Amino acid sequence: MRNTAKIIDLKKVLDARGNLSIIEENSDIPFKIERVHWIYDVPGGESRGGHAYKNTEEFIVALSGSFDVILDNGDGKKQNYHLNRSYMGLYVPKMIWREIDNFSTNAVALVVSSTLYDSDDYIRNFEQFIKNTMQ
Ligand code: TYD
Repeated sequence: MRNTAKIIDLKKVLDARGNLSIIEENSDIPFKIERVHWIYDVPGGESRGGHAYKNTEEFIVALSGSFDVILDNGDGKKQNYHLNRSYMGLYVPKMIWREIDNFSTNAVALVVSSTLYDSDDYIRNFEQFIKNTMQ
């Protein structure tokens, strides 16, 4: 289901030399990958996000450390996902308000996206987001 946020378990190749996990587009995650970015060196107490995307879908992995992803699809019920494993991630459909906070020391958030960066794809005002969900 493409309009529902969900935790996705990734393949794990366990190895005494160190483990390995994989994300393949359109199979492990339900979209084609157009862009990858990552968030790191987050100072204590800071939060990221605070926006929704009109079209972008995302998959977020805690490659290192941990953080919380808080989602709101406009129904007023926030959902909190604590990510702390590098072999699972959170699929975030388009048109979901999302914030990321509670970063641990040395946390690295990998964000895989379905679109190229476009500032016009962002909804950064929560009231505007709620209006858009009602259209
Ligand atoms: P933003 O998506 O608001 O970060 P977050 O959701 O993690 O708080 O991005 C912060 C800034 O970084 C934004 O103003 C522009 C820049 N940026 C790019 O240039 N390209 C990108 O792919 C992303 C994600 C951000």
